[in-house]
Amino acid sequence: MEKALSGVKILDMTHVQSGPTCTQLLAWFGADVIKVERPGVGDATRKQLVDVPGADSLYFTMLNHNKRSVTLNPKSEEGAKIFTKLIEHCDVMVENFAPGALDRMGFTWERIQEINPRMIYASVKGFGPGAYEDCKVYENVAQCAGGSASTTGDLDGLPLVTGAQIGDSGTGLHLALGIVTALYQRTHSGRGQKVDCAMQDGVLNLCRVKLRDQQRLAAGPLNEYSQAGKGIPFGDATPRAGNDSGGGQPGRILKCKGWENDLNAYTYFITQEAAWPAVCDVIGKPEWKEDPDYSTPKARLTRLDEVFAAVEAWTMTQTKFEVMAACNPVNIPVGPILSMKEIAEDESLRKSGTIVEVDHPERGKYLSVGNPIKLSDSPSDVVRSPLLGEHTDEILTEIGLSPEDIAAAREGKAI
Ligand code: COA
Repeated sequence: MEKALSGVKILDMTHVQSGPTCTQLLAWFGADVIKVERPGVGDATRKQLVDVPGADSLYFTMLNHNKRSVTLNPKSEEGAKIFTKLIEHCDVMVENFAPGALDRMGFTWERIQEINPRMIYASVKGFGPGAYEDCKVYENVAQCAGGSASTTGDLDGLPLVTGAQIGDSGTGLHLALGIVTALYQRTHSGRGQKVDCAMQDGVLNLCRVKLRDQQRLAAGPLNEYSQAGKGIPFGDATPRAGNDSGGGQPGRILKCKGWENDLNAYTYFITQEAAWPAVCDVIGKPEWKEDPDYSTPKARLTRLDEVFAAVEAWTMTQTKFEVMAACNPVNIPVGPILSMKEIAEDESLRKSGTIVEVDHPERGKYLSVGNPIKLSDSPSDVVRSPLLGEHTDEILTEIGLSPEDIAAAREGKAI
């Protein structure tokens, strides 16, 4: 079956996580992703967090499916010529080097446009233009600079980073959207363009509701935050709100049966206004439905500790899955805290292709996350990541190099 991005050729200069997440998505949508790696070395993550000696790491394999790998040093004379041919050949170039690295290779945006005016050049950096534009940035730096860390954690605790890689994978997602949008505009304009995505901006975009709350503070306390009900005064910046729900509905993480021995025997429980009567019935407090001290969200605000203690007295008698089974049919939103082990074993996720088993010649079988975006006319098959330089000869032949040219490039250490 033709894939959504069949025929689109991506010159993939990405490394580590943010850029590779983006190009992996494009590959799953059917683009031909040509990953350019430094001869003999490759993407540094190939050899980071190695669990099977001698084999590419899970860090690398899980971020580089469905790509082809070519080794090439564009800084060498012969390598620059080959790289120029690749720019002519491709539709999109993606990179997430430290600021200025591509310019230092001799391939500025102006030069790239000269070579191929239809080229879409997409780039991830830590920061956009400004005081920090020259900084190298990793995940947690972006989470801190993008407003996530200051708003995550308990009110009386340290700022916290989250396990979700919102700086790296989150920015990769933003970049992928920028690329397909630019590809669409090119169908009308005939021109390429530059797509920039800063990790700070990507994180901030995901923290939009916290900037909302920053401005609401001017109008008084944020009443849906637990801190308000406890009478703790607000400062001048959006505070950390523990496990309060960001949408303004009181929510907490509560213990379930087995919590004493299982770190993940918990459920997220939201006491949404519409679900309140059902909550009262489920937890055995039907009298709270009509009692003016409990029947309205406003009345409950100062009693949230008592309310959630009553809910927890019930959730502790149920497993997190029993809580879900009891609450879902009556429209009470709950979320079991699933461990990675439970997710890895989840039958539905395997069936939908969100968790996939992949076979790799060096490491054997491993689990990965498949494409979370499902297109009915463009299903994604997950193909193992390439070995370093596995497709060098194949790709160089495709762009017109003879076997003699390839041998000379190899001799000159350009590939
Ligand atoms: N052949 C020869 N040299 C190559 C090459 C190739 N195929 N590919 C890369 N290089 C060189 C580059 O030219 C550059 O050299 P230079 O600095 O001498 O010009 C170097 O390898 C790569 O540099 P850099 O990007 O600085 O790598 P790093 O490991 O020092 O830094 C990051 C890593 C992630 C911090 C940095 O790339 C960065 O800030 N990227 C932007 C933000 C980002 O994406 N961060 C998250 C990553 S998940």
